[in-house]
Amino acid sequence: MKSNQYSGFHKLTAAQRAAEVIEFAGLSQEDAALLTRPEALKMEIADHMIENVIGTFQLPIGVAMNFLINGKEYVIPMVVEEASVVAAASNAAKMARAAGGFTTSYSGDVMIAQIQCINTANPHFARQTILAHKGELLDLANAKDPVLVKITGGARDIEVRVVDSGIGPMVVTHLLVDTGDAMGANAVNTMAEAVAPAIEKLTGGTVKLRILSNLADHRLARATATFTKEAIGGEDVADGVVAAYAFAAADPYRAATSNKGIMNGVDPVVVATGNDWRAIEAGVHAYCARSGRYTSLTRWEKDADGNLTGCIEMPAPVGLVGGATKIHPAAKACVKLLGVQHASELAQIIAAVGLAQNFAALRALATDGIQKGHMKLHARNLATVAGASAEQLDAVVAQMVVNKKISVEYAKEVLAGM
Ligand code: MEV
Repeated sequence: MKSNQYSGFHKLTAAQRAAEVIEFAGLSQEDAALLTRPEALKMEIADHMIENVIGTFQLPIGVAMNFLINGKEYVIPMVVEEASVVAAASNAAKMARAAGGFTTSYSGDVMIAQIQCINTANPHFARQTILAHKGELLDLANAKDPVLVKITGGARDIEVRVVDSGIGPMVVTHLLVDTGDAMGANAVNTMAEAVAPAIEKLTGGTVKLRILSNLADHRLARATATFTKEAIGGEDVADGVVAAYAFAAADPYRAATSNKGIMNGVDPVVVATGNDWRAIEAGVHAYCARSGRYTSLTRWEKDADGNLTGCIEMPAPVGLVGGATKIHPAAKACVKLLGVQHASELAQIIAAVGLAQNFAALRALATDGIQKGHMKLHARNLATVAGASAEQLDAVVAQMVVNKKISVEYAKEVLAGM
């Protein structure tokens, strides 16, 4: 496979798909085995990842096809349990190609560590005192991680806020640290702990929490795409997507669901690459509520020619060094499959997949409704549960869909009659 555009890819067997993808990414046989065989995560590794281990848990790895991001083709591994997600992302990516695919950007690998200081008599004065000693506080932080300082410059800046709270005003210092290709939780937490005594001395207050913020708004990944009206089924479809977006932008009940659809694309790539999906979830939802009202993570508009344009901007604190990304053998193989060298590239891919996933859901909702596609995939799952073999599957599913009887019982009935 030379290109990630492959007609009929879904009709291949899993082994044939794997062979094509392995050729595309130029993976070694060893890496290929980690992606295709169960038990990539051996017990001896799992036992050291978390506590009280009793076994391992598997999910499917699918690959999203057709993605063109900044002119580069990607085959994107997605680890997810929900049917339709991978197909929808691939389909959306295909439609985006008509206008050149996705264009992305990134604000930098900067994480925030928070240092909470309470019991200061004069918090605004304390704030300015901390800022006046920025240089020495940064030096204290950077002394903790000379290796990081060499690679990225380490702690770069300090911001200080006075936050009103139920126990009175608190002085909250943000340490801004360039964590490079690491997600950076350990690095920033260590630095926050290192500067805490100096902050107490400067302010006369008491430092309590010293911990990173998941609202990583100095680590934003952005993606845009234009979907030509011809590629998506006409200008009416573009209008439908814009109206669906307007609903999410205006109503938190809808925004939660629309954003869940975005995370259908985001999380599977985060999981596949061994990253912390709870961190991304927390950051994204906090970012969506930053105005004080929870809203849509994406924006959809029409351009002057009536084509649909979409944008996403999201905190994307993912890493390629440290954590499960370097420990989980299948995650390592997924990173190789993606061919990414830097966390920044991974973050931008994730944003593009989120945008694609949102487009696919909004387009389906604004046209046929979501159930049509879902039911077919659901029928496939149920027919498999009913015992349909690979050869029988298509015929059983077709009968289930035509007769609108999507149940295991009916699948068994069809099988019995074959
Ligand atoms: C289902 O997993 C996701 C959707 O509900 C997203 C949306 O409504 O936009 C279809």
